[in-house]
Amino acid sequence: MKRLFVAAPFVLILLASCTPKATSVAEAPRSATSTAEQIAQGKTIFETACNRCHKLYEPTQFTSVQWVGIMNAMAPKAKLTDEQHQWVYDYLVSVKK
Ligand code: HEC
Repeated sequence: MKRLFVAAPFVLILLASCTPKATSVAEAPRSATSTAEQIAQGKTIFETACNRCHKLYEPTQFTSVQWVGIMNAMAPKAKLTDEQHQWVYDYLVSVKK
């Protein structure tokens, strides 16, 4: 019985530390949750907010998975809201390779 009580907190910690990661990995590459209008807005935001510090990169230059990481780094630099971040991402991955 004592063992169970000792193990329980570790199981909880494991669960707590794994759950958010598992969700974000599963959800991150999911695209096209935005409407066509939002994707068009994403394009406009991309073309106006993402060339301030460097030239515009081609959407086809990176995979959808790479864009997840890039957008996580660049959205705060461009001071995008969470919604704008999503729209720009959905625009980037909507461009045909
Ligand atoms: C405040 C300045 C700034 C803004 C605004 C900005 N970037 Fe960047 N970006 C950088 C810097 C600095 C680097 C190179 C250093 C680095 O990789 O962190 C970079 C690198 C990149 C790269 C290359 C990554 C690689 O792995 O080669 C991409 C793609 C990119 N930015 C996309 C974007 C997009 C998309 C936006 C708009 C949401 C954006 N950036 C807005 C500063 C900025």
